[in-house]
Parts: sequence; structure tokens; C-alpha cells
Amino acid sequence: MARAFAPGKCILFGEHAVVYGQPAVAVSIEAGVEVSISESNRWSLEGMPFEASKHPHISHILNDIFQYSGPPLEIDIKSSLYSAAGLGSSAALSNAMGAALQELVDPESTLDLISLARMGHSAEANAQKGRASPTDTATSALGGCVVVSGSSPAGTKHIFDATLETPEGSRNWSISKVEIPEIEDVWLVLGFTGIGSPTGDMVAGVSELLKSDPLKMKEIEAIGEITYSGLRELSSGNMEEVGRAMNECQERLRKIGVSSPELENLISATESHSLGAKLTGAGGGGCMVSLTRNPQRVAECIEIAGGRPLVSKFGSGGARIVAEEN
Ligand code: MEV
Repeated sequence: MARAFAPGKCILFGEHAVVYGQPAVAVSIEAGVEVSISESNRWSLEGMPFEASKHPHISHILNDIFQYSGPPLEIDIKSSLYSAAGLGSSAALSNAMGAALQELVDPESTLDLISLARMGHSAEANAQKGRASPTDTATSALGGCVVVSGSSPAGTKHIFDATLETPEGSRNWSISKVEIPEIEDVWLVLGFTGIGSPTGDMVAGVSELLKSDPLKMKEIEAIGEITYSGLRELSSGNMEEVGRAMNECQERLRKIGVSSPELENLISATESHSLGAKLTGAGGGGCMVSLTRNPQRVAECIEIAGGRPLVSKFGSGGARIVAEEN
């Protein structure tokens, strides 16, 4: 039996714009996905027959990346993330699957987080019609605070580069890590609208909008500028300014049509107790995030407004092998 865990992520700045080469800043969260794999006499997923076509991330890792030809596998998944909610559940699933499979086929190997992030990115791109930035998968694999951008911004540590052929042409990203000051009294509170929103559809929707109205590209560029200034404030621990930049980012996200009445409802419900609040991830439904010194109050406001809260500290660890229980 091999078992691995990979965390979900919260994008603080830059969702959607990052698909067009602008920077994004994301942090790993405490909740995530654990995958257990053991050899068996029949293929199964959660006790049901495994149908590869219904699970593109898993089958891409098994067949295209590992070219797995060993005995059938029994695969089990435990997730503490809402799925299709902008928390990187498919990236965490891909990474946990890649790490667990690596452990199963080569238990002596040490987990290489960069290879894992590349694997996860390939699985995401495959499932999202060729359009996926490495943001979710890199943040889930590496953990902490991750910047994905055209080139490594000042004050960050370059980790690796990623390239992808998308339907709109070739894209290159540089993935870096940022050390953020110890943040004791500020939390992230995620609020799930309860509405699932497939990332691939949202990304395709933005692509259509930009084709029909090329002037909207200025919103994408503005998100890039806000992301750089948010990153500077985050690096110096100036959380009031980080919150302000999150609010500005939300204004631009509205203009590219990825917010929704349900997201706006949760954002305004938390406003008076937040340093800043915005949608996080692909939008359309999914989650908003509040940056706050009063997580309990914000979680209550989200619940009262009909959402489901999830409180997290900043930037927990990345993907890891889970030791077998005795
Ligand atoms: C999804 O969490 C983030 C998007 O920017 C898509 C991507 O980066 O692949 C919307």
C-alpha cells in the first residue's frame, strides 16, 4: 500500500490573468486530498470499478506519465476539499495520485516535488482542453507561498520553469517561492457558495470574451499589476494593503465576468470583518476568500449568508508521502 497527501490552494491574486502570462500568487491551505493505492486483482476506485474515461487526471498519470502496466490497482481517495470550488482539488488529486504511485512503483525513491508539480500540471492541462497554468499544481506540490509569473520577481526564489502548448499558443511560466513574514494574527476564511464550477469551462469563457472583446485584455493586464503590488505588500507583512489589493483584484475579476451573485453575496456578507475579500480560483461559483483578523466572525457571516466556511492558516506544507499506520 502507498499513501500520499497533497494540499489544496488559495489564489490570493492573479487567477485567469495567469493563463495569459500575468503573475499569480497562491498559498497552500491545510485541507487537501489523500490517495491510497494498493495492488489488487481488479481495478477499482472507491470500491467501484475504475472507469478511466471518467477520471482524466488519474488515468493521465497512470497511462501517459507512468505508462503503468503492473497489476490492477485499488485506489481510494479521501478529500477534505470542496470539489470544483476553486480550491485546487483536481491539482491536489493529481499530485497525491502521482506521489502515491511513485511510492508504490519505487518505494526507495525520494519524492521530487518539482517532477510532481510537472506531472500534476500535465494532468490539469490534459483535462482542461490544453489551458492550465501551473499555479494550482505547483502550490499544492511545493506548499507555502508560490508565485507563478513570466519571470521570477525580485525578492522571490526561483524553483522551476514550466511550458505548455495551449490552443492560443505557447505559454511559459517561472515558478518561485516567497518567504512571507510569520503571520500570527491573520487568517484566510474560504466561503463555498455550494455551486460547483468547472475550471475548464470558466477558462474557456474568458478566452471567448477576449476574442469577442479584445479591449478586455486591459483588465487582465491590470490584474497583473495588482498582483505585483499585492506581492510586495505580502512580502513586507503589510496585511491591510494586501487586503486592499484583493478588493481591487475582485473589481477586475467582475469585469471579465467570472464573479457571480452568490460570490458577491458572500463577499459583501464578510466585508465589515475582512481586510479584503475576493473570489478565489476560477469563479462562476466555487469559493470566495476573506483575509481577516477575526476568522470566527467571518465564518459565522459566511454561514448566515448561506455559504460553507473553511478557515485556514497561511501556507501550510506541500505534498508528502503518508507513513503506513501500524
Ligand atoms: C484556477 O484555480 C485558476 C485559473 O487561473 C486557471 C489556471 O490557472 O489554470 C482560473
